[in-house]
Amino acid sequence: MRDHVTIATMTDLRGKTAVVTGGAGGIGQALGRRFGREGMNVVLADVLAEPLDGATRALADEGIEAVGVVTDVTDYSSVESLANQALDRFGAVHVVCNNAGTGAVSEGYMWEHDLADWRWGIDVNVLGVVHGIKAFVPILLEQGEGHVVNTCSGNGGFAPIARGALGGPATAVYPMTKAAVLCLTESLYSHLEMTGTRVRAHVLFPSGFLNTGIWESWRHRPQRYAATQQRRTPEHTLADVVAGFAAAGTRVEFTPLETVADQVVDGILADRFWMMGPPTPADGVVTRKAASILARRNPDYLIDVLGQSAEKQPAIEGEKR
Ligand SMILES: NC(=O)c1ccc[n+]([C@@H]2O[C@H](COP(=O)([O-])OP(=O)(O)OC[C@H]3O[C@@H](n4cnc5c(N)ncnc54)[C@H](O)[C@@H]3O)[C@@H](O)[C@H]2O)c1
Repeated sequence: MRDHVTIATMTDLRGKTAVVTGGAGGIGQALGRRFGREGMNVVLADVLAEPLDGATRALADEGIEAVGVVTDVTDYSSVESLANQALDRFGAVHVVCNNAGTGAVSEGYMWEHDLADWRWGIDVNVLGVVHGIKAFVPILLEQGEGHVVNTCSGNGGFAPIARGALGGPATAVYPMTKAAVLCLTESLYSHLEMTGTRVRAHVLFPSGFLNTGIWESWRHRPQRYAATQQRRTPEHTLADVVAGFAAAGTRVEFTPLETVADQVVDGILADRFWMMGPPTPADGVVTRKAASILARRNPDYLIDVLGQSAEKQPAIEGEKR
């Protein structure tokens, strides 16, 4: 492998252009705002037209050069069109955040999950990232510089949450997709390195417990992925999850979304593949998983966010959706 340290990457974001999928709210909008405050042009992309419009106007009201492009990341032609519109508007693209995501909507054990949940989760969280890479990386390579930031999660990226805050089995769909995001970003990193380019790949593990729409993704379930099974339990809200923690004696403290945006900007400027916050006790899952693999021992590291497993898990840090 090439020694990438010798190849200088982007050190100044001013005047450059960032594209952020899932930009209508949550982490995506926070990334857009932070990029704008760094002096970048910002293209926010989302499948939800109205919230996207609101998010874009909020950035423009702050004096940020921002445009919104309605985009469905599950549809490659839509992502290609996003790339073309970004180039038409700003002439170049330097940072691409494949951040759009859909959360835990499944109920029961994984063999009971609705196939529509698997298809929706895989299409948005995995193929959406693949589409972003396919549409944008050739542009970045042509320019000779740029950064691809794929949003992962400790839930799956490290190990799946087995039991969720509501006590039952947690969705298997979401962590499976985030494990895929980590794996494909590692491949992207190595493939870019092989070409000798200054284009970089990064994987984002958003820090802490975040107050975003992902907990209630079911509110915007596309018709194309309509449920095919009758639900036995109501959909969960963020309030339900917070109440689940409270019942277990843990008060949820939300991490400001600006902290996640800091992770990304700092990570780009420092050329850091692992865009993570400072080490926390939750990182212990990585050590336990590695130990389990190396000792050929059955999994004893899987995350129980209420800390009821044999190996007591830190509660909040592991509850990444
Ligand atoms: N909130 C957390 O605690 C947390 C933790 C770890 C990782 N993440 C990840 O962060 C990313 C952003 O999520 P968030 O927490 O800001 O939630 P969010 O729901 O506020 O944002 C996700 C955005 O993606 C958009 N989206 C969904 N399907 C889309 C599609 N087909 N095409 C385009 N856009 C689409 C949604 O409309 C929404 O605006 C996701 O990938 C999520 O998995 C979130």
